[in-house]
Amino acid sequence: MNILGISAFFHDSAAALVSDGEIVAAAQEERFTRRKHDDRYPGKAVSFCLEQADITPADVDVAVFFEKPLVKFERLLETHLSVAPRGFAPLRRALPLWARQKLQLPELMREHLGGSFRGDLRFVGHHESHAASAFYPSPYEEAAILTLDAVGEWATASVGTGTGNQIELTHEMRFPHSLGMLYSAFTYYTGFKVNSGEYKLMGLAPYGEPRYADLILEKVVDVRRDGSVSLDMSYFDYCHGLRMTSEKFHQTFGGPPRKPESMITQKEMDLAASIQAVTEEAVLRSAHFAHEVTGKSKLVLAGGVALNCVANGELLRKGPFEEIWVQPAAGDAGGALGAALQVWHGVLGNSRKPTPGDSQHGSFLGPRFSSDDIELFLDSLGASYHRVKEESDLLDQVAGLLDESKVIGWFHGRMEYGPRALGGRSIIGDPRSPEMQAVMNLKIKFRESFRPFAPCVLREHVHEVFETRFEEDSPYMLFVAPVHEDWRVDLSDEDRQRMQDPDLRTRVSVARSRIPAVTHVDYSARIQTVDAERHGRYYRMMLRFYEMTGCPVVVNTSFNIRGEPIVCTPEDAFRCFMATDMDALVLEDFILLKSDQPAGLAPDVETYRAQFGLD
Ligand SMILES: [Fe+2]
Repeated sequence: MNILGISAFFHDSAAALVSDGEIVAAAQEERFTRRKHDDRYPGKAVSFCLEQADITPADVDVAVFFEKPLVKFERLLETHLSVAPRGFAPLRRALPLWARQKLQLPELMREHLGGSFRGDLRFVGHHESHAASAFYPSPYEEAAILTLDAVGEWATASVGTGTGNQIELTHEMRFPHSLGMLYSAFTYYTGFKVNSGEYKLMGLAPYGEPRYADLILEKVVDVRRDGSVSLDMSYFDYCHGLRMTSEKFHQTFGGPPRKPESMITQKEMDLAASIQAVTEEAVLRSAHFAHEVTGKSKLVLAGGVALNCVANGELLRKGPFEEIWVQPAAGDAGGALGAALQVWHGVLGNSRKPTPGDSQHGSFLGPRFSSDDIELFLDSLGASYHRVKEESDLLDQVAGLLDESKVIGWFHGRMEYGPRALGGRSIIGDPRSPEMQAVMNLKIKFRESFRPFAPCVLREHVHEVFETRFEEDSPYMLFVAPVHEDWRVDLSDEDRQRMQDPDLRTRVSVARSRIPAVTHVDYSARIQTVDAERHGRYYRMMLRFYEMTGCPVVVNTSFNIRGEPIVCTPEDAFRCFMATDMDALVLEDFILLKSDQPAGLAPDVETYRAQFGLD
């Protein structure tokens, strides 16, 4: 039985295919259309899922949408009407889209799938989809479920239990009270883009002091004992305006929002630290509540807030749960997978046997490309390459390049599902190099240099390098942990001085550990553990680098530039390689050096960058 899950029309559209309970394929539409956070119907992602399983729309038994459009429409209507006439403008703007797409979704889905589709059409609630995406792929027979996000239909957070093949959500928090919206309001106020800049705000937090936290708790939000939040809506504008925050908010926090792309000041850093602290407190309390009402020792998490890996790390260290599994596609893209799994298990009652590790396959659920296809493509371009037949030779060369501080585009196997690159479509480098963070940020990603990179670490060595309490793995880069004392370095007086510099770039350039490129100012790091089973060649490459250098860590960042969706095809990868200062590109069995490429193959960098909006 083939169940096709679809999420669309908010942000990050995606499709997922579950065949006889197995997760066969899943991908975000943005990767195919090259439009970041593409929210249109995911036609290309659907086509990929069907191709991957070698089926046609006629073979799809159920197509399921990740939320209930009528209930969501009711919420939009009520929200806007409750503040009429002020709310009329956004409603008028939203209405034609809703009328066209959301209310006519059944027709639209049938139309897109084509005449041969004869299956059922179903709808699963937004938070049910998140909950299903968290519980069903997890390795647990039973677990508490916590979903935390901005908003779906009415719910903005939910708590429940997963047992065997069933999930039951017992508590929910409702719009407009929402932890996700609160975080997004601060994202907006500090000059970052809502629904994509949240990650930057989190990255900024360690530079600040949480000196606004009390003010936030006193005026803006009440965090209750059970972790639910109650917002004073006079500080917000998202019910009736197109902005997130109100004049009163701006007065309270000392002025208008920071202009996007302008200088980041200590105020923004302190605001980031403050909202992060408030969020962590709410997440921790929610988890205690979930623990109390479910009595389970394990927790699964999804929803956009579950991508806050700093809060997840705190939860793991301080929270009541022994183990936590987070859906790597925790945002709305993951709803496609959750909806499909909910139909298979929850609705149709098919049994479920938890897989050790999990059944997410490392989240490598997107397309792969054969070396033969890649060779045809490279020949058609006239690119210069070496095809390396023996894997051990290839890995020797890659490890050698890393050791020479070269930056490498690494393209291998299936593309990742979810927002993070995990070794399928990654840019990698040597974390020991003090310049690596600045080089990768400025010359490769073309973005703000305060942003830290994440380390990939060989699973066997994680406890040497980081102070973690994972007994299990952290293969999805969803938990933050401190760099181990033994790997930290003492700061000189001069370095201490530089750590106080108002310019973030100066602070970033201070090496605080033996792996400075992945060590944040507070010694934290977003860890991805890499293991032989999930990561295959990527693991073997890291092992080779370790044997050569004694360093079990590489820098891993997504294979893209600022504002660009992560690369999907060899063409995308080659273009990105040529438009940036990357030194080498590894496309499956091929190694390409930048210095060998014919000059005519380089795209105009400015034109390339201009294709992608600022994120
Ligand atoms: Fe959501």
